[in-house]
Amino acid sequence: CGIVGVIGNNKTTDILLNGLEKLEYRGYDSAGIYVNNQAGKDYLVKEVGKISKLEDAVTEDVVGSVGIGHTRWATHGKPTVENAHPHFSEDNRFYLVHNGVLTNFEELKEKYLQGVDFKSQTDTEVAVQLVDHFAKEGMNGEAAFRKALGLIQGSYAFAMIDKEQPDRIFVAKNKSPLLIGLGDNFNVICSDAMAMLDQTHEFVEIHDGEVVILGKGSVNISKIDGTPVHRDSYTVNLDASDISKGTYEHYMLKEIDEQPNVMRKISQNYINPDGSLNVEQDLLDELKKADRLYIVAAGTSYHAGLVGKNIFEKIADIPVDVELGSEFGYHMPKLSKHPFFIFLSQSGETADSRQVLVKVNEMNLPSLTMTNVPNSTLSREATFTMELLAGPEIAVASTKAYTAQIAVESVLAKALGDEKNLEVAKDFNLKKQLALAANGIQQIVDEKATIKQLTADYLTDQTDAFYIGRGIDYALSLEAALKLKEISYIHAEGFAAGELKHGTIALIEKNTPVIAYINDGVGASHTRGNIQEVEARGAHVLVIASQKYAEKGDQIIIPEIDELISPIISVVPAQLIAYYASLARGNDVDKPRNLAKSVTVE
Ligand code: G6P
Repeated sequence: CGIVGVIGNNKTTDILLNGLEKLEYRGYDSAGIYVNNQAGKDYLVKEVGKISKLEDAVTEDVVGSVGIGHTRWATHGKPTVENAHPHFSEDNRFYLVHNGVLTNFEELKEKYLQGVDFKSQTDTEVAVQLVDHFAKEGMNGEAAFRKALGLIQGSYAFAMIDKEQPDRIFVAKNKSPLLIGLGDNFNVICSDAMAMLDQTHEFVEIHDGEVVILGKGSVNISKIDGTPVHRDSYTVNLDASDISKGTYEHYMLKEIDEQPNVMRKISQNYINPDGSLNVEQDLLDELKKADRLYIVAAGTSYHAGLVGKNIFEKIADIPVDVELGSEFGYHMPKLSKHPFFIFLSQSGETADSRQVLVKVNEMNLPSLTMTNVPNSTLSREATFTMELLAGPEIAVASTKAYTAQIAVESVLAKALGDEKNLEVAKDFNLKKQLALAANGIQQIVDEKATIKQLTADYLTDQTDAFYIGRGIDYALSLEAALKLKEISYIHAEGFAAGELKHGTIALIEKNTPVIAYINDGVGASHTRGNIQEVEARGAHVLVIASQKYAEKGDQIIIPEIDELISPIISVVPAQLIAYYASLARGNDVDKPRNLAKSVTVE
């Protein structure tokens, strides 16, 4: 799931290990490095489990001036040392790390690699053996690499070292993210700029279908067929301190606490002092032509899209479909006449969403990416970008990116509604609402002790839980349940409160926790009815209600805010409940099992 590489620096081993540590947050199950001293000695170290285990296994003699490293999130083959990267060719000449999934590796193996003794079950090993195969036929390392790339299908970011030419790293990219970083008389490679911010802030993008021959002082980019490509570098304006945990025990809690500031930042950035909105006019012109919005996303971002549907439909008066990238790309429904696509993605790299964008671009349709990572793939490839401004999100479970997405969706909905001269848009006082959001979140995070206690009362020793709500609270319930599942491993479901009785209520037993949301005015009284139904069957009900609809005995009260964007505040108790449930169970809060922060495979 993460790639690092260094050339021309005697501290290669340290830089690789430090880079892998920085990528830890993205989720992985094994890791490895290959280091070469450019004078005939080389080392390969791989371990299953944490980077600290790899560090323990790296002995003092592992030094060199060129190397590659990798954290793996298993796709083909189990997390074992053999399946960890770097992979190498039969005669230990080529060493390669790979992110992505090769789709035709079985055919390639069958056609070119019969008789080769494979050490792993991975698709990646086929790639490195294939390069070796062409080298054995007499090609030099570069020609063999290009020949293999011409045959390989699927997604990849590759970094490869040829032991016979350790003065260069061979790099290639298709669909999976990869950057070159420019150091002072050395160069680095990384799949995420954060891995190398300690070394440089100057990066060069690589586009799909490109190959880079990276030297100590040279970056030669070309197409697979050899046509040269020129590209300037750009500066990444991130501070290494933005990605430190400070005094917090976990990134997740830090990121939950940062949400009031994120709201203020979004307000300051998108609302001009004269009250007008800082949204590109070209974007609004394009949106005005649209007859339907298609929001495409995955995971938590998808849930932010479900909330966004309500906001856009009410404030900008436009129908909205919310689609999962993994489904939509391959089962595209009949589109409206003038569709406009909005991609929601914290990382800007999610492969499921990106493959939809590739198709949207093939159809020449307009698109916008709302992302937390400027220069990310989805940002570069969409027609327009709006930044989430949440600051780096490190914990795997997304928190501040979700609330930022809802806030930025409301900026755009308001701008479009104003552009269309809609009364509802004029009545929606964005500045005030974002201020209420910031203050409301602050009130909730100040109540951590209460929420911790409620989590202990309701969720200790439970194996299942339900979140229920109607309308905007239904969308919110899906996210609340996902948070709990992701980090506490309690099986949770988010349910439309009215739908529970049509089957799932069969699962309610004595003490089953049911957390009910009541921010949606229209549905409030009916949801109260549904609470009665589950209580009658033994459920232990915790109510999270807005000030306006709260009743005596409700446990958590959501401060004043427009109902449409109320999930910005009301998700926070669910984030904290998930956090404390995870903590109580002794789980790794920031790096839950099996999950990756940004999934760059489909
Ligand atoms: C992964 C993460 C989720 C995230 C989803 C979409 O599955 O574990 O937390 O919501 O990807 O990521 P994105 O970066 O596109 O928002």
